[in-house]
Amino acid sequence: MQALHNKNIVLGITGGIAAYKGPELVRRLKEQGANVRVVVTESAKAFVTPLSLQAVSANPVSDDLLDPQAELAMGHIELAKWADLVVVAPATANTIAKLAHGMADDLLTTIALATAAPLAIAPAMNQQMWHNPMTQKNVAALTAYGATLLGPGSGEQACGDVGLGRMLDVPELVSGVIEVLSTNQQLLAGQHWVITAGPTQEPIDPVRYISNHSSGKMGYAVAQAALEAGAKVTLISGPTKLAPPQGADFIPVITAAEMHQQALSHATSANIFVACAAVADYRVAQVADQKIKKHEDAMQISMVKNPDIVADVAGLTQGRPFTVGFAAETQDVEQYARGKLQRKNLDLIAANNVSLSGQGFNSDDNALTVFSADDRTELALTSKSQLAKELVAIISSKAERKA
Ligand code: C5P
Repeated sequence: MQALHNKNIVLGITGGIAAYKGPELVRRLKEQGANVRVVVTESAKAFVTPLSLQAVSANPVSDDLLDPQAELAMGHIELAKWADLVVVAPATANTIAKLAHGMADDLLTTIALATAAPLAIAPAMNQQMWHNPMTQKNVAALTAYGATLLGPGSGEQACGDVGLGRMLDVPELVSGVIEVLSTNQQLLAGQHWVITAGPTQEPIDPVRYISNHSSGKMGYAVAQAALEAGAKVTLISGPTKLAPPQGADFIPVITAAEMHQQALSHATSANIFVACAAVADYRVAQVADQKIKKHEDAMQISMVKNPDIVADVAGLTQGRPFTVGFAAETQDVEQYARGKLQRKNLDLIAANNVSLSGQGFNSDDNALTVFSADDRTELALTSKSQLAKELVAIISSKAERKA
C-alpha cells in the first residue's frame, strides 16, 4: 500500500527560492497516495505559479484569508480540520517567526494555528539567517510546541554561501512526512474502541423481518479512522453490504438483542464506545416458527421495546467507557440531540439532519453537529470517511480532557 494512502496534507509554500520544488513535492506526495491542498503566501507566488500547483495537486490553490469566494468553497477552518498534516516547505525565516509567535495574518499561518493536525516545517534560508539566534529561538519554540523540523540541509545556497539552511531535497521531505504521519498514527495507540454500525433486522417469521435504511457507511468509516489512528477496534455490525475494515475485530449480528449482548460484553474493556448503529426500537413479540400465510385481509403484529444499547453502556457503573451516540433527526435537531445526550447519559452526541438531501442514510456524504453538555462543534458536509476522521479527533480530545 502507498505510505500516505488517503492522508490529507495541506502544503504551505512560502516565499523562498526553494518554492520552485513545490510542484515536484506535490507530485511525489500524491504518488504515495496523499490528497494535497496547497496554500501559498503572497511572496511564494513570485517563485511558483498557483496554476502549476493547481495542475499537479488537482485541487484549487488557496492564497487569501479574506477571499469570500474561496472561503465559501473551502474556508480556512475547513482546511484546518481537513488536514492530517500541515507541512510548510519551504518555510522562510519570516513564516517561522510568525508561527513561533502564534501570529495568524495570512491564510497559511491561520490554518497552522487552527488545526489539530501535526505541523512539519522545512526551513529554507541563507545560512546566516538560519544561524541567527532569533531564528534559532523561534525554531526551538516551534519544536517545543510539537512541530517537527524537516532539515534544513547543508550545502551550496542560491546566494552563493555554503552552509546550513538549504531546504531538504524532495525525496527526503517525502520520507520526513511519512515518518511524521506514522508517528502520529499512534495517537490512539493502546486504546480500544467499540463501535456499533448498520441496521438491525428484527424477524417476523423465518422469511421476513423489520429493518431500516442504514447502510453502515458512517460506522464503518469511524472504525476505519480509529484503526488508522492506531486504536484496537471492535466493530459490531448489523447486516450491511460493506467489507469489514481490515484489522478490526469484526462481530456480525442480526438483531438488536444480539447487538446488545455483544456490545455490553465488549464495552467494559473499551476506552471509547461509539453507537453508530440504527437499532430497531421494537422487535416482534412472538416470532412465528413458520412462514405466516395470507389468510386474513388485515393482520396485526405485536411488538415489544428493544433494550437501548448505548444507554445501557452509558449506565454501566463499572468499566463505563467514554460513550458517544448518534442522533438521526428530521426536525428540531439540536433539541432532540441534547435531549438524548442527557436522557441516555452520553458524553457526546453526533447529530445529523437526515431529511436534507445528499446526506445521512445510505449517502456517501454527511454533515454532523457534535454536542457535549457544554458546547457544540459543526462538521461541514463532506465524505463520510473524512467526517469520520474529524469525529474521531473530536472524540479523542474530549475523552482525553474528561480522563
Ligand atoms: O433514541 P435514538 O434511537 O434516536 O438514539 C440514537 C442513538 O442511540 C444512536 O447512537 C443509536 O445507535 C443508539 N441506540 C441504541 N440502542 C437502541 C436505540 C438506539 O444503542 N435500542
